[in-house]
Amino acid sequence: MISDADPQKIVVARRGSPLLIGVGVGEYLVASDASAVLAHTRSVVYLDEGDVAVLTPEGYRVLGRDARPQDRLVDDLDWDLDTLALGSHAHFMLKEICEQPETVGHTLRGRLVGVDGTARLNGLNLSPGHCARIRRIVIVGCGTSWHAGLVGRCILEELTGIPVEVEYASEYRYRRQLRVPGTLTVAISQSGETADTLEAIRAARAAGSMVVGLVNVVGSTIAREADGGIYLHAGPEIGVASTKAFTSQIVALLLLGLHLGRRREQLDVEDGQRLVAALRSLPDLVARTLQLEPQLRELARQYADARNALYLGRGVNFPVALEGALKLKEISYIHAEGYPAAEMKHGPIALIDEHMPVVFLAPKDQVYAKTLSNMQEVKARGGHIIAITTEGNGDLRHLADHEVRVPACPPLLSAVLTVIPLQLLAYHIAVQRGCDVDRPRNLAKSVTVE
Ligand code: AGP
Repeated sequence: MISDADPQKIVVARRGSPLLIGVGVGEYLVASDASAVLAHTRSVVYLDEGDVAVLTPEGYRVLGRDARPQDRLVDDLDWDLDTLALGSHAHFMLKEICEQPETVGHTLRGRLVGVDGTARLNGLNLSPGHCARIRRIVIVGCGTSWHAGLVGRCILEELTGIPVEVEYASEYRYRRQLRVPGTLTVAISQSGETADTLEAIRAARAAGSMVVGLVNVVGSTIAREADGGIYLHAGPEIGVASTKAFTSQIVALLLLGLHLGRRREQLDVEDGQRLVAALRSLPDLVARTLQLEPQLRELARQYADARNALYLGRGVNFPVALEGALKLKEISYIHAEGYPAAEMKHGPIALIDEHMPVVFLAPKDQVYAKTLSNMQEVKARGGHIIAITTEGNGDLRHLADHEVRVPACPPLLSAVLTVIPLQLLAYHIAVQRGCDVDRPRNLAKSVTVE
Protein backbone atom coordinates (compact mmCIF):
# COMPACT_ATOMS: atom_id res chain seq x y z
CA MET A 1 0.00 0.00 0.00
CA ILE A 2 1.35 3.41 -0.95
CA SER A 3 0.68 5.85 1.86
CA ASP A 4 -1.65 8.73 0.84
CA ALA A 5 0.00 11.01 3.35
CA ASP A 6 3.48 10.23 1.97
CA PRO A 7 3.67 8.81 -1.60
CA GLN A 8 7.39 8.19 -0.94
CA LYS A 9 6.36 5.49 1.53
CA ILE A 10 5.21 1.91 0.83
CA VAL A 11 3.69 -0.17 3.63
CA VAL A 12 3.38 -3.93 3.14
CA ALA A 13 2.08 -6.72 5.39
CA ARG A 14 2.58 -10.48 5.16
CA ARG A 15 -0.59 -12.53 5.76
CA GLY A 16 -0.61 -16.10 4.42
CA SER A 17 1.28 -15.85 1.13
CA PRO A 18 5.08 -15.30 1.07
CA LEU A 19 6.49 -11.74 0.90
CA LEU A 20 10.05 -10.41 0.64
CA ILE A 21 11.97 -7.16 0.22
CA GLY A 22 14.64 -6.86 -2.46
CA VAL A 23 17.48 -4.69 -1.16
CA GLY A 24 18.91 -2.95 -4.25
CA VAL A 25 21.34 -0.08 -4.80
CA GLY A 26 19.32 3.03 -4.01
CA GLU A 27 16.08 1.08 -4.41
CA TYR A 28 13.89 -1.34 -2.45
CA LEU A 29 11.50 -3.79 -4.09
CA VAL A 30 8.63 -5.91 -2.76
CA ALA A 31 7.68 -9.31 -4.24
CA SER A 32 6.22 -12.70 -3.32
CA ASP A 33 9.08 -14.62 -5.01
CA ALA A 34 12.81 -13.92 -5.22
CA SER A 35 12.97 -14.52 -8.99
CA ALA A 36 10.91 -11.34 -9.49
CA VAL A 37 13.62 -9.06 -8.04
CA LEU A 38 16.67 -10.88 -9.43
CA ALA A 39 17.10 -8.41 -12.29
CA HIS A 40 17.68 -5.70 -9.63
CA THR A 41 19.41 -7.45 -6.73
CA ARG A 42 20.42 -10.80 -5.16
CA SER A 43 19.95 -9.53 -1.61
CA VAL A 44 16.53 -10.29 -0.16
CA VAL A 45 14.80 -10.04 3.22
CA TYR A 46 12.13 -12.67 3.81
CA LEU A 47 9.20 -11.42 5.92
CA ASP A 48 7.67 -13.67 8.59
CA GLU A 49 3.94 -14.27 8.97
CA GLY A 50 2.36 -11.12 10.50
CA ASP A 51 5.31 -8.82 9.66
CA VAL A 52 4.65 -5.27 8.45
CA ALA A 53 7.39 -3.45 6.51
CA VAL A 54 7.67 0.25 5.78
CA LEU A 55 9.80 1.17 2.75
CA THR A 56 11.07 4.65 1.91
CA PRO A 57 13.84 5.80 -0.46
CA GLU A 58 16.12 5.98 2.61
CA GLY A 59 15.55 2.37 3.72
CA TYR A 60 13.09 -0.08 5.24
CA ARG A 61 12.07 -1.22 8.69
CA VAL A 62 10.18 -4.33 9.75
CA LEU A 63 7.63 -4.47 12.57
CA GLY A 64 6.58 -7.80 14.04
CA ARG A 65 3.07 -8.93 15.14
CA ASP A 66 3.60 -6.94 18.34
CA ALA A 67 4.42 -3.82 16.27
CA ARG A 68 7.95 -3.93 17.68
CA PRO A 69 10.90 -3.36 15.28
CA GLN A 70 12.37 -6.68 14.05
CA ASP A 71 15.84 -7.49 12.71
CA ARG A 72 15.36 -9.65 9.62
CA LEU A 73 18.41 -11.23 8.00
CA VAL A 74 19.45 -10.18 4.48
CA ASP A 75 19.85 -13.42 2.47
CA ASP A 76 22.02 -13.55 -0.66
CA LEU A 77 20.54 -15.69 -3.42
CA ASP A 78 22.96 -18.34 -4.75
CA TRP A 79 21.53 -18.24 -8.27
CA ASP A 80 21.33 -15.61 -11.01
CA LEU A 81 19.31 -14.52 -14.02
CA ASP A 82 20.97 -17.12 -16.26
CA THR A 83 19.45 -19.81 -14.07
CA LEU A 84 16.07 -18.33 -14.96
CA ALA A 85 16.79 -18.23 -18.69
CA LEU A 86 15.40 -20.90 -21.02
CA GLY A 87 18.69 -21.13 -22.93
CA SER A 88 18.31 -23.46 -25.92
CA HIS A 89 15.34 -25.35 -24.46
CA ALA A 90 11.78 -24.99 -25.74
CA HIS A 91 10.29 -25.09 -22.26
CA PHE A 92 11.44 -24.72 -18.63
CA MET A 93 10.10 -28.22 -17.92
CA LEU A 94 12.45 -29.76 -20.50
CA LYS A 95 15.32 -27.56 -19.28
CA GLU A 96 14.72 -28.74 -15.71
CA ILE A 97 14.46 -32.40 -16.77
CA CYS A 98 17.80 -32.07 -18.57
CA GLU A 99 19.44 -30.30 -15.59
CA GLN A 100 19.00 -33.37 -13.34
CA PRO A 101 22.58 -34.75 -13.59
CA GLU A 102 23.76 -31.38 -12.19
CA THR A 103 20.92 -30.87 -9.71
CA VAL A 104 21.28 -34.38 -8.26
CA GLY A 105 25.00 -33.56 -7.93
CA HIS A 106 24.16 -30.30 -6.14
CA THR A 107 21.96 -32.11 -3.62
CA LEU A 108 24.84 -34.52 -2.89
CA ARG A 109 27.61 -31.90 -2.89
CA GLY A 110 29.64 -31.74 0.32
CA ARG A 111 27.32 -34.21 2.09
CA LEU A 112 28.93 -37.62 1.40
CA VAL A 113 31.61 -38.83 3.84
CA GLY A 114 33.21 -41.88 2.26
CA VAL A 115 35.64 -42.79 5.04
CA ASP A 116 32.81 -43.04 7.64
CA GLY A 117 30.22 -44.30 5.16
CA THR A 118 27.75 -41.60 6.17
CA ALA A 119 26.12 -38.31 5.18
CA ARG A 120 26.96 -34.93 6.75
CA LEU A 121 23.75 -32.91 7.17
CA ASN A 122 24.70 -29.84 9.18
CA GLY A 123 21.38 -28.02 8.71
CA LEU A 124 19.35 -30.89 10.18
CA ASN A 125 19.95 -29.81 13.80
CA LEU A 126 19.39 -33.35 15.07
CA SER A 127 21.83 -34.23 17.84
CA PRO A 128 22.94 -37.86 18.33
CA GLY A 129 20.52 -37.92 21.28
CA HIS A 130 17.64 -36.73 19.08
CA CYS A 131 18.48 -39.37 16.46
CA ALA A 132 18.53 -42.12 19.08
CA ARG A 133 15.15 -41.06 20.55
CA ILE A 134 13.21 -41.12 17.25
CA ARG A 135 10.43 -43.73 17.51
CA ARG A 136 8.28 -42.69 14.57
CA ILE A 137 8.67 -40.63 11.41
CA VAL A 138 5.67 -38.85 9.86
CA ILE A 139 6.23 -37.46 6.36
CA VAL A 140 3.83 -34.73 5.20
CA GLY A 141 3.51 -33.17 1.75
CA CYS A 142 1.26 -32.53 -1.25
CA GLY A 143 1.27 -33.62 -4.89
CA THR A 144 4.69 -34.62 -6.18
CA SER A 145 6.20 -34.02 -2.74
CA TRP A 146 3.76 -36.54 -1.27
CA HIS A 147 4.91 -39.05 -3.90
CA ALA A 148 8.52 -38.42 -2.85
CA GLY A 149 7.36 -39.09 0.71
CA LEU A 150 6.07 -42.52 -0.32
CA VAL A 151 9.48 -43.34 -1.85
CA GLY A 152 10.99 -41.95 1.37
CA ARG A 153 9.03 -44.44 3.49
CA CYS A 154 10.65 -47.39 1.72
CA ILE A 155 14.10 -45.76 1.99
CA LEU A 156 13.89 -44.66 5.64
CA GLU A 157 12.35 -47.90 6.93
CA GLU A 158 15.01 -49.89 5.05
CA LEU A 159 17.98 -47.81 6.25
CA THR A 160 16.92 -46.78 9.78
CA GLY A 161 14.44 -49.43 11.01
CA ILE A 162 12.10 -46.61 12.16
CA PRO A 163 8.37 -46.98 11.27
CA VAL A 164 7.32 -44.28 8.78
CA GLU A 165 3.85 -42.88 8.03
CA VAL A 166 3.19 -40.76 4.93
CA GLU A 167 0.37 -38.24 5.11
CA TYR A 168 -1.40 -35.91 2.72
CA ALA A 169 -0.72 -32.61 4.51
CA SER A 170 -4.24 -31.36 3.68
CA GLU A 171 -5.78 -34.31 5.56
CA TYR A 172 -3.21 -34.57 8.35
CA ARG A 173 -3.62 -30.95 9.48
CA TYR A 174 -7.30 -31.51 10.39
CA ARG A 175 -6.88 -34.89 12.06
CA ARG A 176 -6.55 -35.19 15.83
CA GLN A 177 -2.81 -34.77 16.52
CA LEU A 178 -1.58 -37.64 18.71
CA ARG A 179 1.15 -36.74 21.21
CA VAL A 180 3.60 -39.60 20.56
CA PRO A 181 7.04 -39.07 22.16
CA GLY A 182 9.90 -39.53 19.73
CA THR A 183 7.95 -38.36 16.67
CA LEU A 184 9.96 -36.70 13.90
CA THR A 185 7.87 -34.89 11.29
CA VAL A 186 9.49 -34.51 7.87
CA ALA A 187 7.88 -31.84 5.68
CA ILE A 188 8.65 -32.19 1.97
CA SER A 189 8.02 -29.13 -0.19
CA GLN A 190 9.73 -27.73 -3.30
CA SER A 191 8.44 -24.19 -2.78
CA GLY A 192 8.43 -24.26 1.01
CA GLU A 193 5.22 -22.22 0.85
CA THR A 194 2.44 -24.78 0.33
CA ALA A 195 -0.29 -23.76 2.78
CA ASP A 196 -1.46 -27.27 3.70
CA THR A 197 2.08 -28.48 4.39
CA LEU A 198 2.82 -25.36 6.44
CA GLU A 199 -0.27 -25.88 8.58
CA ALA A 200 0.52 -29.59 8.95
CA ILE A 201 3.93 -28.82 10.47
CA ARG A 202 2.39 -26.19 12.76
CA ALA A 203 -0.09 -28.82 13.96
CA ALA A 204 2.66 -31.43 14.39
CA ARG A 205 4.79 -29.00 16.37
CA ALA A 206 1.84 -28.12 18.60
CA ALA A 207 1.63 -31.85 19.36
CA GLY A 208 5.27 -31.85 20.50
CA SER A 209 6.91 -33.23 17.35
CA MET A 210 10.32 -32.10 16.05
CA VAL A 211 10.02 -30.84 12.47
CA VAL A 212 12.59 -31.03 9.69
CA GLY A 213 12.03 -29.66 6.20
CA LEU A 214 13.22 -31.01 2.85
CA VAL A 215 12.85 -27.80 0.86
CA ASN A 216 14.20 -26.33 -2.36
CA VAL A 217 13.50 -22.60 -1.96
CA VAL A 218 16.03 -21.03 0.42
CA GLY A 219 14.47 -18.74 3.00
CA SER A 220 10.94 -20.03 2.36
CA THR A 221 8.45 -20.17 5.24
CA ILE A 222 8.60 -23.94 5.85
CA ALA A 223 12.41 -23.76 5.85
CA ARG A 224 12.34 -20.94 8.41
CA GLU A 225 9.64 -22.48 10.64
CA ALA A 226 11.18 -25.98 10.75
CA ASP A 227 13.65 -26.93 13.53
CA GLY A 228 16.16 -27.98 10.90
CA GLY A 229 16.28 -29.29 7.38
CA ILE A 230 17.95 -30.27 4.16
CA TYR A 231 18.01 -27.79 1.28
CA LEU A 232 17.78 -29.54 -2.12
CA HIS A 233 19.95 -26.92 -3.91
CA ALA A 234 18.21 -27.89 -7.18
CA GLY A 235 17.99 -24.20 -8.21
CA PRO A 236 14.77 -22.41 -9.14
CA GLU A 237 12.07 -24.70 -10.58
CA ILE A 238 9.97 -22.61 -12.98
CA GLY A 239 7.87 -25.22 -14.79
CA VAL A 240 4.64 -25.86 -12.83
CA ALA A 241 5.12 -29.62 -13.25
CA SER A 242 7.78 -30.56 -10.72
CA THR A 243 10.64 -32.66 -12.13
CA LYS A 244 14.19 -31.94 -10.85
CA ALA A 245 12.83 -31.22 -7.36
CA PHE A 246 11.37 -34.77 -7.24
CA THR A 247 14.67 -36.50 -8.00
CA SER A 248 16.49 -34.21 -5.55
CA GLN A 249 13.85 -34.93 -2.88
CA ILE A 250 14.54 -38.66 -3.25
CA VAL A 251 18.30 -38.05 -3.04
CA ALA A 252 17.78 -35.93 0.10
CA LEU A 253 15.71 -38.78 1.63
CA LEU A 254 18.53 -41.23 0.82
CA LEU A 255 20.98 -38.87 2.57
CA LEU A 256 18.65 -38.61 5.58
CA GLY A 257 18.31 -42.41 5.71
CA LEU A 258 22.07 -42.86 5.50
CA HIS A 259 22.68 -40.24 8.22
CA LEU A 260 20.09 -41.69 10.65
CA GLY A 261 20.94 -45.31 9.78
CA ARG A 262 24.58 -44.78 10.65
CA ARG A 263 23.83 -42.73 13.77
CA ARG A 264 21.45 -45.43 15.06
CA GLU A 265 23.90 -48.19 14.05
CA GLN A 266 21.36 -49.77 11.79
CA LEU A 267 24.02 -49.51 9.08
CA ASP A 268 27.67 -50.39 9.63
CA VAL A 269 30.56 -48.56 7.94
CA GLU A 270 30.69 -51.00 4.98
CA ASP A 271 26.93 -50.68 4.36
CA GLY A 272 27.34 -46.91 4.51
CA GLN A 273 30.33 -46.88 2.19
CA ARG A 274 28.46 -48.98 -0.39
CA LEU A 275 25.56 -46.53 -0.34
CA VAL A 276 27.93 -43.54 -0.55
CA ALA A 277 29.56 -45.09 -3.64
CA ALA A 278 26.17 -45.75 -5.24
CA LEU A 279 25.03 -42.17 -4.54
CA ARG A 280 28.24 -40.80 -6.02
CA SER A 281 27.50 -42.66 -9.28
CA LEU A 282 23.98 -41.22 -9.58
CA PRO A 283 24.69 -38.02 -11.60
CA ASP A 284 26.34 -40.11 -14.37
CA LEU A 285 23.51 -42.65 -14.33
CA VAL A 286 20.98 -39.81 -14.63
CA ALA A 287 22.93 -38.37 -17.58
CA ARG A 288 22.86 -41.79 -19.30
CA THR A 289 19.11 -42.09 -18.66
CA LEU A 290 18.51 -38.73 -20.37
CA GLN A 291 19.95 -40.21 -23.57
CA LEU A 292 16.68 -42.13 -23.88
CA GLU A 293 14.88 -38.91 -24.87
CA PRO A 294 14.62 -39.69 -28.63
CA GLN A 295 12.87 -43.00 -27.82
CA LEU A 296 10.39 -41.25 -25.50
CA ARG A 297 9.72 -38.55 -28.11
CA GLU A 298 8.85 -41.33 -30.60
CA LEU A 299 6.61 -43.11 -28.05
CA ALA A 300 4.87 -39.80 -27.34
CA ARG A 301 4.06 -39.48 -31.04
CA GLN A 302 2.36 -42.90 -30.90
CA TYR A 303 0.35 -42.28 -27.72
CA ALA A 304 -0.46 -38.54 -27.94
CA ASP A 305 -4.09 -39.33 -28.79
CA ALA A 306 -4.66 -41.69 -25.87
CA ARG A 307 -7.66 -40.84 -23.72
CA ASN A 308 -6.55 -42.71 -20.64
CA ALA A 309 -3.41 -44.32 -19.30
CA LEU A 310 -2.45 -46.62 -16.43
CA TYR A 311 0.88 -46.62 -14.58
CA LEU A 312 1.85 -49.64 -12.49
CA GLY A 313 4.77 -50.29 -10.16
CA ARG A 314 5.83 -52.08 -6.98
CA GLY A 315 7.92 -51.08 -3.92
CA VAL A 316 9.76 -47.77 -4.45
CA ASN A 317 8.39 -47.77 -7.98
CA PHE A 318 4.72 -47.69 -6.95
CA PRO A 319 5.04 -43.96 -6.04
CA VAL A 320 6.95 -43.48 -9.32
CA ALA A 321 3.85 -44.86 -11.09
CA LEU A 322 1.75 -42.29 -9.22
CA GLU A 323 4.21 -39.55 -10.22
CA GLY A 324 4.21 -40.60 -13.90
CA ALA A 325 0.40 -40.47 -13.95
CA LEU A 326 0.40 -37.05 -12.25
CA LYS A 327 2.88 -35.61 -14.79
CA LEU A 328 0.74 -36.80 -17.71
CA LYS A 329 -2.47 -35.50 -16.12
CA GLU A 330 -1.21 -32.08 -15.17
CA ILE A 331 0.40 -31.07 -18.49
CA SER A 332 -1.41 -33.08 -21.23
CA TYR A 333 -4.84 -33.32 -19.58
CA ILE A 334 -5.05 -37.05 -20.39
CA HIS A 335 -6.76 -39.00 -17.58
CA ALA A 336 -4.18 -41.30 -15.98
CA GLU A 337 -3.94 -43.38 -12.82
CA GLY A 338 -1.07 -44.92 -10.92
CA TYR A 339 -1.52 -48.14 -8.96
CA PRO A 340 0.48 -50.76 -7.10
CA ALA A 341 0.83 -53.42 -9.83
CA ALA A 342 -0.69 -56.16 -7.66
CA GLU A 343 -3.73 -53.99 -6.90
CA MET A 344 -4.84 -54.18 -10.52
CA LYS A 345 -6.67 -57.46 -10.28
CA HIS A 346 -8.79 -55.98 -7.49
CA GLY A 347 -10.54 -53.68 -9.95
CA PRO A 348 -8.60 -51.52 -12.46
CA ILE A 349 -7.93 -54.54 -14.67
CA ALA A 350 -11.51 -54.04 -15.87
CA LEU A 351 -10.25 -50.95 -17.72
CA ILE A 352 -7.74 -52.88 -19.80
CA ASP A 353 -8.35 -53.17 -23.55
CA GLU A 354 -6.41 -52.43 -26.74
CA HIS A 355 -6.96 -48.67 -26.24
CA MET A 356 -5.35 -48.51 -22.82
CA PRO A 357 -1.60 -47.77 -22.72
CA VAL A 358 -0.16 -49.34 -19.58
CA VAL A 359 3.21 -48.11 -18.34
CA PHE A 360 4.97 -50.69 -16.14
CA LEU A 361 7.89 -49.81 -13.87
CA ALA A 362 9.81 -53.10 -14.06
CA PRO A 363 13.45 -52.67 -13.06
CA LYS A 364 15.28 -55.87 -12.14
CA ASP A 365 14.72 -55.81 -8.35
CA GLN A 366 13.40 -58.07 -5.61
CA VAL A 367 9.79 -57.81 -6.90
CA TYR A 368 10.63 -58.10 -10.62
CA ALA A 369 9.20 -61.62 -11.03
CA LYS A 370 5.91 -60.48 -9.47
CA THR A 371 5.77 -57.50 -11.81
CA LEU A 372 6.27 -59.86 -14.77
CA SER A 373 3.15 -61.81 -13.80
CA ASN A 374 1.16 -58.56 -13.59
CA MET A 375 2.43 -57.74 -17.07
CA GLN A 376 1.13 -61.12 -18.31
CA GLU A 377 -2.32 -60.30 -16.88
CA VAL A 378 -2.40 -57.04 -18.91
CA LYS A 379 -1.03 -58.67 -22.04
CA ALA A 380 -3.70 -61.38 -21.85
CA ARG A 381 -6.37 -58.61 -22.02
CA GLY A 382 -4.86 -56.85 -25.02
CA GLY A 383 -3.36 -53.89 -23.14
CA HIS A 384 -0.50 -51.92 -24.77
CA ILE A 385 2.56 -52.23 -22.56
CA ILE A 386 5.37 -49.71 -22.23
CA ALA A 387 7.94 -51.25 -19.86
CA ILE A 388 10.55 -49.16 -18.01
CA THR A 389 13.16 -51.78 -17.17
CA THR A 390 16.90 -52.23 -16.60
CA GLU A 391 19.65 -52.09 -19.24
CA GLY A 392 20.64 -55.57 -20.46
CA ASN A 393 17.29 -57.10 -19.51
CA GLY A 394 16.11 -59.25 -22.43
CA ASP A 395 13.10 -60.87 -20.74
CA LEU A 396 10.33 -58.60 -21.93
CA ARG A 397 10.32 -58.97 -25.72
CA HIS A 398 7.33 -61.33 -25.69
CA LEU A 399 5.40 -59.19 -23.20
CA ALA A 400 6.04 -55.49 -23.77
CA ASP A 401 5.17 -53.49 -26.90
CA HIS A 402 7.93 -51.06 -25.99
CA GLU A 403 10.95 -51.42 -23.65
CA VAL A 404 12.76 -48.41 -22.21
CA ARG A 405 15.96 -49.47 -20.45
CA VAL A 406 17.45 -47.35 -17.67
CA PRO A 407 20.95 -48.02 -16.24
CA ALA A 408 21.20 -50.63 -13.46
CA CYS A 409 21.53 -49.36 -9.87
CA PRO A 410 20.74 -50.55 -6.31
CA PRO A 411 16.91 -50.94 -5.99
CA LEU A 412 16.65 -48.29 -3.24
CA LEU A 413 18.00 -45.67 -5.71
CA SER A 414 16.04 -46.83 -8.76
CA ALA A 415 13.21 -44.26 -8.43
CA VAL A 416 15.68 -41.47 -9.33
CA LEU A 417 16.23 -43.12 -12.73
CA THR A 418 12.88 -44.76 -13.53
CA VAL A 419 10.95 -41.49 -13.16
CA ILE A 420 12.97 -39.69 -15.87
CA PRO A 421 11.47 -41.56 -18.88
CA LEU A 422 8.02 -40.81 -17.42
CA GLN A 423 8.85 -37.08 -17.16
CA LEU A 424 10.02 -37.12 -20.81
CA LEU A 425 7.00 -39.12 -22.02
CA ALA A 426 4.55 -36.70 -20.37
CA TYR A 427 6.50 -33.70 -21.67
CA HIS A 428 6.58 -34.88 -25.30
CA ILE A 429 2.93 -35.99 -25.28
CA ALA A 430 1.94 -32.53 -24.01
CA VAL A 431 4.05 -30.89 -26.73
CA GLN A 432 2.47 -33.16 -29.37
CA ARG A 433 -0.96 -32.06 -28.13
CA GLY A 434 0.02 -28.37 -28.31
CA CYS A 435 -0.45 -27.84 -24.55
CA ASP A 436 1.09 -24.94 -22.59
CA VAL A 437 3.65 -27.19 -20.90
CA ASP A 438 5.10 -24.66 -18.43
CA ARG A 439 1.82 -23.01 -17.47
CA PRO A 440 -0.79 -25.78 -17.54
CA ARG A 441 -4.39 -24.74 -17.00
CA ASN A 442 -5.89 -24.57 -13.53
CA LEU A 443 -2.49 -25.00 -11.77
CA ALA A 444 -0.13 -22.78 -9.77
CA LYS A 445 3.54 -23.46 -9.05
CA SER A 446 3.09 -22.83 -5.34
CA VAL A 447 -0.31 -23.38 -3.69
CA THR A 448 -0.20 -20.80 -0.89
CA VAL A 449 -3.91 -20.86 -0.17
CA GLU A 450 -6.01 -23.65 1.25
C1 AGP B 1 3.66 -31.13 -9.15
O1 AGP B 1 4.10 -31.16 -10.43
C2 AGP B 1 2.73 -30.03 -8.85
N1 AGP B 1 3.25 -28.79 -9.19
C3 AGP B 1 2.16 -30.06 -7.43
O2 AGP B 1 1.55 -31.30 -7.22
C4 AGP B 1 3.19 -29.84 -6.31
O3 AGP B 1 4.01 -30.95 -6.17
C5 AGP B 1 2.43 -29.58 -4.99
O4 AGP B 1 1.65 -28.44 -5.14
C6 AGP B 1 3.39 -29.42 -3.81
O5 AGP B 1 4.20 -28.32 -4.00
P1 AGP B 1 5.48 -28.11 -3.04
O6 AGP B 1 6.43 -29.24 -3.27
O7 AGP B 1 6.04 -26.78 -3.48
O8 AGP B 1 4.97 -28.07 -1.63
